[in-house]
Amino acid sequence: MSVHTEDTRKVTTQRLLEMKQRCEKISMLTAYDYTMAAIVDVAGVDVILVGDSASNVVCGNLTTLPITLDQMIFMGKSVFKAVNRALVVVDMPFGSYQGNPVKAVASAIRIMKETGADCIKMEGGEEILESVTRIISAGIPIMGHLGLTPQSINKFGSYAVRAKENFEAEKLARDAHLLEQAGCFAIVLEKIPAMLGKRVTEELDIPIIGIGAGKYTDGQVLVLHDMLGLTQDFSPRFLRRYADMKTIMQNALQQYVTDVKTNSFPNDSEQY
Ligand code: KIV
Repeated sequence: MSVHTEDTRKVTTQRLLEMKQRCEKISMLTAYDYTMAAIVDVAGVDVILVGDSASNVVCGNLTTLPITLDQMIFMGKSVFKAVNRALVVVDMPFGSYQGNPVKAVASAIRIMKETGADCIKMEGGEEILESVTRIISAGIPIMGHLGLTPQSINKFGSYAVRAKENFEAEKLARDAHLLEQAGCFAIVLEKIPAMLGKRVTEELDIPIIGIGAGKYTDGQVLVLHDMLGLTQDFSPRFLRRYADMKTIMQNALQQYVTDVKTNSFPNDSEQY
């Protein structure tokens, strides 16, 4: 059965809330450029995240820390131009908001003004609450991000499953409530036990989107390059690969090299 959406209306934060209310699951993927974003949008994906995972899969960095606000804005602009239906979310990169609410508002405004995106995403709970409140009062919708927060990798020291201990789970649930009360329209939960994902999803009215947070959340998000099999050295349990694009591309590229070397490309019909 195909459940690809026939509904071509623009996805809004309000429509995501309505999807949660009628128990319709929300699909979300990353995209970082015009061509890929157009394909993702036409496929019916509800939310497109211009994620700071671009730091890894686009820029080749080991962590998400080096990517800059200017780089996020460059990608956000390209993605936004390609998208007709999906809600477009741009990640606030490391260093654009931490510890400084005034800078946080300025960074969020730059993203909204210069990319045309619908909203932003920020990592963290109580510690970023003042920034969250100020940005929302400036009229900018925020998607929160709790659990494994890659921008804090140097604080935690590993990409292991988060909130396995009771005290961590309680902090995560409290942070989720605080973000909801502050006005976040949705929250991403990354790499936490499925039962904690279920609990937060049931306790909150806003949509909860999981990545490695089990099957009970209101929606799922994956990194596009990972789920398409463009990257192959990253294999966490939560990652389902829907294609082996790396092999498909390598085969096509090798065929091209062969065709050029053997003078079978271009042929008579491929020239003027
Ligand atoms: O940057 C990103 O791709 C993300 C997702 C993993 C949720 O934050």
